[in-house]
Amino acid sequence: MRDTTSTTENICRRLIGRTAVITGAGSGIGLAAARRLASEGANVVCADIDETAGKAAAEEVGGTYVRVDVTDAEQVEALFRTAYDTYGSVDVAFNNAGISPPDDDSILETGLEAWKRVQEVNLTSVYLCCKAAIPYMRRQGRGSIINTASFVAVMGAATSQISYTASKGGVLAMSRELGVQFARDGIRVNALCPGPVNTPLLQELFAKDPERAARRLVHIPAGRFAEAEEIAAAVAFLASDDSSFVNAADFLVDGGISGAYVTPV
Ligand SMILES: NC(=O)c1ccc[n+]([C@@H]2O[C@H](COP(=O)([O-])OP(=O)(O)OC[C@H]3O[C@@H](n4cnc5c(N)ncnc54)[C@H](O)[C@@H]3O)[C@@H](O)[C@H]2O)c1
Repeated sequence: MRDTTSTTENICRRLIGRTAVITGAGSGIGLAAARRLASEGANVVCADIDETAGKAAAEEVGGTYVRVDVTDAEQVEALFRTAYDTYGSVDVAFNNAGISPPDDDSILETGLEAWKRVQEVNLTSVYLCCKAAIPYMRRQGRGSIINTASFVAVMGAATSQISYTASKGGVLAMSRELGVQFARDGIRVNALCPGPVNTPLLQELFAKDPERAARRLVHIPAGRFAEAEEIAAAVAFLASDDSSFVNAADFLVDGGISGAYVTPV
């Protein structure tokens, strides 16, 4: 594990008085972002379908938990309404919840049900969250939307998860279009494209199968996976006014994967 404490100790508090809604805040990148945005002064609304994890996250960061299935339009509307009613504004929407289930594999193996489920959770959810957040942000004349895509939206992999990849490509294109459409309303919309992150799931998978890890690590110039805190640092930047001229971007935080041909030995 890398020591990321110094990063959070030295940060300024760029988000005082801002309200941030984070989906998938109970785990991984969402949880790291909840911690980081709260440490920068934001009111954080932690949304997750997993009640135990979501509540724990909200408690830890002094925020508000809202149980939500991001594929449900009414629940998503209620989420942003709760944020507004509780804190008086919706300044940041980090639309991050996503799944990567094992039955989403090669196109030759992946059934229609698995395809649809991934599209719903990873792509339709982002449509619903943006649709719910934008009216608040337009009224305020201000807002930052960060939609989690992935580096697989810009690169092909022979180790395919076909619906996941297609869903993230959709997130990328949708974010770009929204960023352009609402730029003059003071709203920025960016797609965050993380490289592979050192999550417990990934660690477990690769501990069992070191060859699988090696096949991926060889493509990363940095020679390691990202820590969730490193992705959260990018989220904080995109959420804050420090990124005031960053809009409609494919914001890659991938350790150089997408720029690499031959990596260092
Ligand atoms: N981990 C990586 O290597 C990686 C790389 C690139 C992109 N991403 C993307 O980053 C995002 C977060 O990934 P992570 O690794 O932190 O995942 P994670 O599994 O650790 O956390 C995802 C969270 O989303 C919640 N969630 C799942 N379905 C939901 C639903 N229908 N409604 C509400 N909440 C739901 C889960 O309960 C969980 O708390 C995802 O969109 C993922 O595709 C991850």
